[in-house]
Amino acid sequence: MQAFDLVIRGGTVATATDVMQADLAISGETIAAIGCDLPAGQREIDARGKLVLPGGVDSHAHVEQLSASGLMNADTFESATAAAAFGGTTTVISFAAQHVGMSLSKVVENYHRLAERGAVVDYAFHMILADPTETVLKQELPPLIKDGHSSLKVFMTYDRLKLDDERLLDVLAAARENHALVMVHAENHGMITWMSKRLLARGLRAPKYHALSHPRGGEAEAFTRVIACAALIDQPIMIYHVSTAEGAAVIRRARGEGRKVFAETCPQYLFMTKADLDRPGLEGAKWMCSPPLREASDQAALWQALALGDLQTVSSDHAPYAFDETGKLAAGSDPSFKQIANGLPGLEARLPLLFSAMVSEGGFDLPRFVAWTATQPAKIYGLHPRKGSIAIGADADIAIWDPRKRVTFGDDTVRGRAGYTPWTGRTVQGWPVSVLRRGEVIVEDSRLGAAPGSGRFLARPGGVAAEPTGRASPEFDQRINFQTRL
Ligand code: URP
Ligand code: ZN
Ligand code: ZN
Repeated sequence: MQAFDLVIRGGTVATATDVMQADLAISGETIAAIGCDLPAGQREIDARGKLVLPGGVDSHAHVEQLSASGLMNADTFESATAAAAFGGTTTVISFAAQHVGMSLSKVVENYHRLAERGAVVDYAFHMILADPTETVLKQELPPLIKDGHSSLKVFMTYDRLKLDDERLLDVLAAARENHALVMVHAENHGMITWMSKRLLARGLRAPKYHALSHPRGGEAEAFTRVIACAALIDQPIMIYHVSTAEGAAVIRRARGEGRKVFAETCPQYLFMTKADLDRPGLEGAKWMCSPPLREASDQAALWQALALGDLQTVSSDHAPYAFDETGKLAAGSDPSFKQIANGLPGLEARLPLLFSAMVSEGGFDLPRFVAWTATQPAKIYGLHPRKGSIAIGADADIAIWDPRKRVTFGDDTVRGRAGYTPWTGRTVQGWPVSVLRRGEVIVEDSRLGAAPGSGRFLARPGGVAAEPTGRASPEFDQRINFQTRL
């Protein structure tokens, strides 16, 4: 029998369902065996006292992307995916972001070029549709989805990106026809605009007013509206970055009614509050993201929604902007909250933050940590069983965690090009000390060993998550709609 290329020996292996003491063997790029006392490999890693987990799947990251206000975010594919790798994430789904007037095919082609040049972990793209014309939906979209871009993102807010309900329905219908999932940034645009004007008219310009300008009720309202639109045509959706208890309750109700609604939250909504925005001068800009940080009571509600399965994944929503004139301060040295780019860097910190809270502090258990950060996103976005788990035949994307290692985040310790971390000063326990991508050790001894461009594109079919429920709404049900074909 040919020796395995690599054996990770004596660790505690965990998946979304099981935890076991086992050796793990890799041949080529895939997992070849899991067992006790496996034969020697050509290379061996001693994992005694360590945890052997699937590499993370971060399904929501903005990389080398033009923001809603036309600003380029701070990371390149190289810097963003290197940060991901250092934090134990081996698959990143970022965006191919269309803006008004752009050809979607060209947009996707451009992002492929950028990622091919820089990515060090494997990647896929969600396509952002800001201008869903008939040409885009009927001619450009179908072949792009067939090529493996099986998820579309839409915005219900931001002046340059938002779709009204009619356009939203156009996109949902096109997704249904072509078997793709639709992700939504759902907030009530009118409420945001109205509140922003009211605050600014009173001279209230500081970053902390960003929190008041996105009313919490605007989240629940937009969730309710997009769920109703999706239900009309029986199209599955994923609601992004749930931030409020009321929003989580809307999702719970919809799922209870049999709607195919998935949802995620992010570490910033689980660990931070709007008090983080309230800092001297413009400092709070570093904590400005949309939706904004909320209350401690929302954190509890979001953890509960995760535990109940109403939310299935925790992504980073990595959207880095430097705290200087290239990013957060692009509108000058005295911007109002309305003129500051929204977004936080988070690809590196996501897994250690969650590991520390869920596993080290005992909030949850290893299988749920793996499920929410790797297996569930892989399943929902059509990457499973190749990614997101430890199984024979799966890609050997592995993070070996030292559960005792303590790390304090600091602006000078984090990777990525934002130049700061909103987690500065926070100490976590548990860190991914070695990271493998398709069998190759890409992080070891705090050094990156992967060449830019060595990450691979992952073509994804629209999986089970994108399948309609088969239960037509009354308007589309020919048994009760006067036999009307719609
Ligand atoms: O503030 C954020 N999250 N910026 C990135 C764009 C988005 O809304 O997802
Ligand atoms: Zn968003
Ligand atoms: Zn986002």
